[in-house]
Amino acid sequence: MCGIVGVVGNRNATDILMQGLEKLEYRGYDSAGIYVANGDNSSLVKSVGRIADLRAKIGIDVSGSTGIGHTRWATHGQATEDNAHPHTSATGRFVLVHNGVIENYLQIKEEYLAGHDLKGQTDTEIAVHLIGQFVEDSLSVLEAFKKALSIIEGSYAFALVDSEDTDTIYVAKNKSPLLIGLGDGYNMVCSDAMAMIRETSEFMEIHDKELVILTKDAATVTDYDGNEIERDSYTAELDLSDIGKGTYPFYMLKEIDEQPTVMRKLISTYADSEGNMNIDPAIVKSVQDADRIYILAAGTSYNAGFASKAMLEKLTDTPVELGVASEWGYNMPLLSKKPMFILLSQSGETADSRQVLVKANEMGIPSLTVTNVPGSTLSREATYTMLLHAGPEIAVASTKAYTAQVAALAFLAKAVGEANGKAEAAEFDLVHELSIVAQSIEATLSEKDMIADKVEKLLSTTRNAFYIGRGNDYYVAMEASLKLKEISYIQCEGFAAGELKHGTISLIEDGTPVIGLISSSELVAAHTRGNIQEVAARGANVLTVVEEGLEREGDDIVVNKVHPFLATIGMVISTQLIAYYASLQRGLDVDKPRNLAKAVTVE
Ligand code: G6P
Repeated sequence: MCGIVGVVGNRNATDILMQGLEKLEYRGYDSAGIYVANGDNSSLVKSVGRIADLRAKIGIDVSGSTGIGHTRWATHGQATEDNAHPHTSATGRFVLVHNGVIENYLQIKEEYLAGHDLKGQTDTEIAVHLIGQFVEDSLSVLEAFKKALSIIEGSYAFALVDSEDTDTIYVAKNKSPLLIGLGDGYNMVCSDAMAMIRETSEFMEIHDKELVILTKDAATVTDYDGNEIERDSYTAELDLSDIGKGTYPFYMLKEIDEQPTVMRKLISTYADSEGNMNIDPAIVKSVQDADRIYILAAGTSYNAGFASKAMLEKLTDTPVELGVASEWGYNMPLLSKKPMFILLSQSGETADSRQVLVKANEMGIPSLTVTNVPGSTLSREATYTMLLHAGPEIAVASTKAYTAQVAALAFLAKAVGEANGKAEAAEFDLVHELSIVAQSIEATLSEKDMIADKVEKLLSTTRNAFYIGRGNDYYVAMEASLKLKEISYIQCEGFAAGELKHGTISLIEDGTPVIGLISSSELVAAHTRGNIQEVAARGANVLTVVEEGLEREGDDIVVNKVHPFLATIGMVISTQLIAYYASLQRGLDVDKPRNLAKAVTVE
């Protein structure tokens, strides 16, 4: 969702901006643009659609050493060229890119910008007009920027260039992600580190309500009153090869394939060579002290919370409640006496989850962020962090982060259970069981052609589908249906198998695809099979994904057996492949589904 990149100094800005925007593509966007400063030959180029469309519009004359670029995920106003960033002030002197939502933009327009002619409908254009107006009113650029920041309410990451003095980029942020990259003779600003690692591995954080004056040699951080803030830089441990697609046609397939490696990486991170849990004792104690664990998340991470719930409850003896972050941020229900919040977030930047964390911090509730991105906002602001070590996830549809979340929580659950003296936790040989999971994933991955074939028969023309299951299989069904919806645009519901007959079964007609998930006990399996019969009798086209040992003749996909605590990981893999092939066979852009963003940094 909206990406920002900017550079000032001794480099070819056009190249750096375009490469940065390409690296930010994964976040989701529907238009893009760059501004490259070069005196009278400065260029502002924008395009609706992909970065490739923007690239096609950039001639060799677009050159300079200071510039800002942006990928826009439309919020205020449609995806048009006029609404695409960068935006310019009334005279064209100031150029701005923005990520976030300015809540009071209409009031600002009424109060300060009477008579201003605006080209588009965006809140950003209002912000840059406001800054320009204050300079017209004889404030210095810095004072004008600060005054605008004191008026603007909402979330933002800003990078501003004054076309009359292009040695500086003015940067500020509140709630939206933004990071400084430090180079030799040049400096950068960007929404995330990945888009800068080709240029630098030295980064500096910006906190909310801080302003940065960025020149080729310095990044001066101040608060909005102008007080200078000391901020150390850090070196990021990112590997450029991690963000390449290699020989894969799509990132999603690469990331699905990486899951066995991720499981093994988690073993080596969260267990020592003897198999003892290697989790920060402060985190374990904090969970032990809680009378209830609340998992707050969005999208796939929310589903990963459900996929971990039974295992967490059984191993820790603590009830686990799930919350949709966008709901809890403003409608916090009655909590237990000693709550512990776990924020699950692949990106660590989801604005909805962050809003919950802000509330939790105000209420003094201990929190743990489980994320794939070190140094991310949720990681910085929570009491504790556990990292997923899954490597960058680029495809919008999350796969390896989901399974890594469940596995990471398994380590936490076992460590807490052991600390509580729970025999079941001590007996659960997680290191061994997770190695079996890694092998089971590999076995499923070796069946790709067979799965692709089944998907072609089942889903190639349908407009809707169902996943059904009970218990953990129901939770996997939720994730499986989300994945299918996200990238194939097939309307799909994940349903508790037994609940279908209480209303939704009316949607089943001749040929409706229903995918049944069966991994639980014989008894539960028998009930799910009964529900599958019910839909089959009404014409449904059924496909079954069954755990080894529970299979019957005619089942479609049989998944190797794994420990019941980890069954959600074992079961979800084939559903990831089902979504992947459904999307591929429809000729869709698997990695960049329409309307979606990877890091959703607005509420
Ligand atoms: C967006 C993405 C989803 C993702 C969700 C939560 O909606 O499109 O794929 O699951 O955000 O993201 P997070 O980074 O917090 O896990």
